[in-house]
Amino acid sequence: MVQSSQPFRAARAGPLRGRIEVPGDKSISHRALMLAALAVGESRIEGLLEGEDVLATAAALRAMGATIERGADGVWTVHGVGVGGLLQPAAALDMGNSGTSTRLLMGLVASHPITATFTGDASLSRRPMARVIEPLSRMGADVTASPGGRLPLMVRGLCPAVPISYTLPVASAQVKSAVLLAGLNTPGIIEVIEPVPTRDHSERMLRGFGAEIEAGDGRIRLRGEAELRPQHVIVPGDPSSAAFPLVAALIVPGSEVTIAGVGMNPTRTGLMTTLAEMGADLVLRERPDAGGEPVADIVARSSALVGVEVPPERAPSMIDEYPILCVAAAFARGRTVMRGLEELRIKESDRIAAMAEGLRAIGARVEELPDGLVVEGTGGDPLPGGGSIASRLDHRIAMSFAVAGLHCRAPVQIDDMRPVATSFPGFETLVSGLQAG
Ligand code: S3P
Repeated sequence: MVQSSQPFRAARAGPLRGRIEVPGDKSISHRALMLAALAVGESRIEGLLEGEDVLATAAALRAMGATIERGADGVWTVHGVGVGGLLQPAAALDMGNSGTSTRLLMGLVASHPITATFTGDASLSRRPMARVIEPLSRMGADVTASPGGRLPLMVRGLCPAVPISYTLPVASAQVKSAVLLAGLNTPGIIEVIEPVPTRDHSERMLRGFGAEIEAGDGRIRLRGEAELRPQHVIVPGDPSSAAFPLVAALIVPGSEVTIAGVGMNPTRTGLMTTLAEMGADLVLRERPDAGGEPVADIVARSSALVGVEVPPERAPSMIDEYPILCVAAAFARGRTVMRGLEELRIKESDRIAAMAEGLRAIGARVEELPDGLVVEGTGGDPLPGGGSIASRLDHRIAMSFAVAGLHCRAPVQIDDMRPVATSFPGFETLVSGLQAG
């Protein structure tokens, strides 16, 4: 993100219509690159998300010895170095805005005989890394972090590392994955116990690349010193990106939008469950699995939504979807209560504060709680709009208000859409295409 800010005016739209695809899943794309970089031989990745976060992962893996190229057909090829084969990077690894790149790559470095420095943008440099530093230190890595356990930080790996059994103190797929990835080059069995299930893309993909891994009853056990075999990975569309055009179709009267090829991993579908409870008209058409993940086409039609109480235990399966759920709630009849969301305060921005402030700016009724939000909807009427939104270096805040603006009386001004390139390149074009459809 080098150019100056990119303001955006989101104006009221007529019905949205059409069939679209969203870019590849961000979580799966990071993991596909990382595992391919650790396999011996050539892997191919189709549908990789070409967003800034994933490109940061690719650049870091190249700096540690993997060969990663994009073919003219859009398929990526990766020549891996083998587990244990990562090389000392010559310069600091710039993680940009990406927490996933940072935490997962710290895991990889932790069990290799190399030292790497991680840097990032202002948003990432505010985010806590102690949650990964703690288990990786137990495995023997030596981490020197900035005050508060933040970036910039340096990881000095230990090889051989120490196998651990680790109970996750927070529900975090990133922490789980960091430990499992560190475990790949560690002798013995590495165990992670997760009290609450989180997205399991790492486990599925590790199995696909040939690692010995067992998972059940919240206990994941990986045999270290693994040998990974190169794979052909097909990345499904990202459900967290699909959420934006999907909610747009629900709130703009007269709309019908099909989003094709979306990943439907049950650890990611909490938003679909919640919207269904709110009365959303959603039809799922199953498609063949891709990359070891269930996939479906989703048809979304405008709906008279009603407010609900979202069970806090559902949070991990929709953790990135609360900003756009707030937008759906702002047009529902009655109150939507969202709680148990402390983690939202330490995402790319403090998403509880950002949503409360933004919703107020466009005339919605919202109450901010320490651990969540209560939104009182319009019952389907447009909101006044007209406010200006600070996107706070957070792609999901920017996209949420770009969607909200489609059903506001006066246009909504968003200060900067550049963060959207981290996860959803082409977002604005895709949404304006639906308006023309
Ligand atoms: C991710 C896990 C989630 C999510 C993030 C991607 C992943 O973070 O918010 O966007 O790919 O593992 P936490 O694991 O910190 O909850």
